[in-house]
Amino acid sequence: VFGEIEVAPRDPILGLNAAFKEDKSPKKVNLGVGAYRTEDGKPLVLPVVRKVEQKMLDLGFDKEYIPQSGLPEFQKVSPLLLFGKDSPAIKENRLACLQTLSGTGALRVGCEFVQKFLPKGTTVYVPNPTWGNHYSVIESAGLKAGKYRYLNKDTMKVDIDGLLEDVNNAPDHSVILLHVCAHNPTGVDPTKDDWKKIAEVIKKKNHLTFFDSAYQGFASGDLDKDAFSVRLFVDQGLELMAAQSYAKNFGLYGERIGAISFVCKDAKKAEAILSQVNRIIRAMYSSPPLHGARIVALTLGDDSLLSEWKKDLEGMANRIIEMRTALLEGLQKKKTPSPTKDGTWKHVVEQIGMFSFTGLDNAQVKRLIDEHHIYLTSDGRISMAGINPSNVEYIVNAIDEVVRH
Ligand code: LMR
Repeated sequence: VFGEIEVAPRDPILGLNAAFKEDKSPKKVNLGVGAYRTEDGKPLVLPVVRKVEQKMLDLGFDKEYIPQSGLPEFQKVSPLLLFGKDSPAIKENRLACLQTLSGTGALRVGCEFVQKFLPKGTTVYVPNPTWGNHYSVIESAGLKAGKYRYLNKDTMKVDIDGLLEDVNNAPDHSVILLHVCAHNPTGVDPTKDDWKKIAEVIKKKNHLTFFDSAYQGFASGDLDKDAFSVRLFVDQGLELMAAQSYAKNFGLYGERIGAISFVCKDAKKAEAILSQVNRIIRAMYSSPPLHGARIVALTLGDDSLLSEWKKDLEGMANRIIEMRTALLEGLQKKKTPSPTKDGTWKHVVEQIGMFSFTGLDNAQVKRLIDEHHIYLTSDGRISMAGINPSNVEYIVNAIDEVVRH
């Protein structure tokens, strides 16, 4: 009955985890998936998360179903983090927030909503390059994915003129997906001035913005500053959707905790959208899981736990910044030729967030994997969160070797 079914190729990011696990070399390093590792290369559970989990055990919570839209306490605090406690959209009750299966789940729910309620043929435009899974999520929901220019490879900066031109040329009422901060994979974000121009053209074209926030806290180290783009768009009176992930900033990767928010013109529309998205969720997975939602809700809802979380987050962000400098200094010391036009490696420290877009090509990446057991995505992206003081020299030497020979 199943007929001929071929084995699917491995996922370009998650597949690296499997290959890394199979690799028997003691030297192996995983710079593929964006997941923070301790100085010993081990996964990290944030101290605040451990503490809250203990509190949850002590409180003896039940395991009942929660509504399709999620845990109410979580739905209340999650938008405050992204939109700010003074957000007009929250104050005017015109923001609908639903708990989702992390950021990917939020993106998929948002795409299902677009597919169901926006005109047929609506295209979702993503930056070029973007997180590879964006395409799969958009297309699996039956939508078309388009691209807008994003990175100027010569300058390793945002190609703002190209971006504005492409967003302007997209048919009116398109969906424009924007990374809120710490763009994945490039680590390069628009400036404040660029964001104002992007908001203007989106407004002029009546596009719907779909923000993807997976790295709040990792770009500038300040949660509010990292949310600049979203808050600007709300201040400009734009209606929008926003996906949030707590995988990276809470280290809750496997708990699948995230949210989707709809900022609407008025409270009536927000209520209607919430009820419709409830139906979408009911048909897909009924209702979301409890554990991660409780952790986030308890932490964000308590001033002292909140400041503990900020410290944990700062610790991760600082180590990443230190490793950027260590990587740059190592490559400079060896006078390793750079693949970028300006001939330097300074993009490694200029880029922000969890990743560095090195400029290494496909063949060099393959050699890093095959000969040096260093795993990274084929576009030359490395997860800075996987570099630590004990492996940085090994990584520098390997990059030097594949670039020179
Ligand atoms: C990444 O880009 O490495 C992360 O967003 C993890 C993932 O799911 O791909």
